[in-house]
Amino acid sequence: MSTHTPTTQATPHLDVAAIRRQFPILGEKVHDRPLVFLDSAASAQKPEAVITCMANTMRHQYANIHRGLHWMSERTTEAYEGVRDLVADFLNAPSREEIVFTRNSTEAINLVAHSFGALLKPGQAVLISQMEHHANLVPWQMLRDRAGIDLRVAPITDDGDLDMDAYAALLADGKVALVAITHMSNVLGTITPARQIAEIAHAAGAQVLFDGSQSVVHHKTDVQELGADFYTFTGHKLYGPTGIGVLWARRELLEAMPPFMGGGDMISTVTYEHSTWANIPHKFEAGTPAIVETIGLGAAIDWVSKIGFDAIAAHEADLTAHAVQRLATVPGLNIVGHPRVRGGVVSFTMDDVHPHDIATLLDRNGIAIRAGHHCAEPLMRRLGLSATARASFGIYTQKEEIDVLADTLVRIRDFFV
Ligand code: ALA
Repeated sequence: MSTHTPTTQATPHLDVAAIRRQFPILGEKVHDRPLVFLDSAASAQKPEAVITCMANTMRHQYANIHRGLHWMSERTTEAYEGVRDLVADFLNAPSREEIVFTRNSTEAINLVAHSFGALLKPGQAVLISQMEHHANLVPWQMLRDRAGIDLRVAPITDDGDLDMDAYAALLADGKVALVAITHMSNVLGTITPARQIAEIAHAAGAQVLFDGSQSVVHHKTDVQELGADFYTFTGHKLYGPTGIGVLWARRELLEAMPPFMGGGDMISTVTYEHSTWANIPHKFEAGTPAIVETIGLGAAIDWVSKIGFDAIAAHEADLTAHAVQRLATVPGLNIVGHPRVRGGVVSFTMDDVHPHDIATLLDRNGIAIRAGHHCAEPLMRRLGLSATARASFGIYTQKEEIDVLADTLVRIRDFFV
């Protein structure tokens, strides 16, 4: 018998107070109250490191990239292309050339729908789930209508998990060419079992795209470990700027896919009659890209990576457990979704109070949440709701803010009943 005693590793600690000091906006007041920002799933706030990096780029080292033979252009090109290396490391992608910069996750998914979609034949299918954001639904409907492919929707359970048996059954005829599923639901907080989803898809001959817009923020992402074929995320939820997103895809797929948009920088040769394409990833990056935003995304990735996902994930798991427990004590409050694994997003409704009223009244108390259909109208219908209120957490969220939310919700409820 082994006498080995396992050592327990201490959970890395996040100094939230020190982190908060790096976010200038968190010192602001709203309606004369300290800002309680619980809407990071819509867009996260920006640390000084990102703000300063972007301002310094514009102040000191900026020109167009890939074009100039002068010092400024060369330095800016280095900074921009350096972010491609950073993103490749961040996702553990096999190659920097598999990283395509887009405007956001929505554009990345549209790129795949357009360019991978061009390789599909009528009769083949794309499979999504009932909990997709419109960004991972509408582009596939457009492809279906354009290309005569079938669009299938895998159901979720009442708790908000993907129904894995139904999912596997929808792949059984071997006609699904692509599974496109969220890695974390922006409404239910569900973290989907990505590895298992990929294994089942691959066994049925399908490729897999994960929409990582919500999930990359909360835990370490390793596209090889997940067994993904495509992965998308957006900068602005990762404490970076808006206007910059990422598509990672396996090299063979990117090489087989036709370009998404035509223009400068994506070509090899051009005549009046004919053009040929640049190598990947440039084939997919037409026109002057979001240079400053890409460099800002690099600053965000550097910043998050220095803090480390072990500490971030532990902090957010703690916050989320606290939120679920605290909100459950608010009279008349119903938490929407009880997934097996949840990220830092909690949706809820309250008897007798519309979610929009909840959000408006919370706002009068300085508390920012989101209310509505969260760009997931079909999911709302599946849940039998027209809207929810949603609190979402980030690296700077404190338990005390969740307590303020819960106490204010009690007062709102008292006011209505
Ligand atoms: N997709 C973002 C959200 O869930 C905008 O709020």
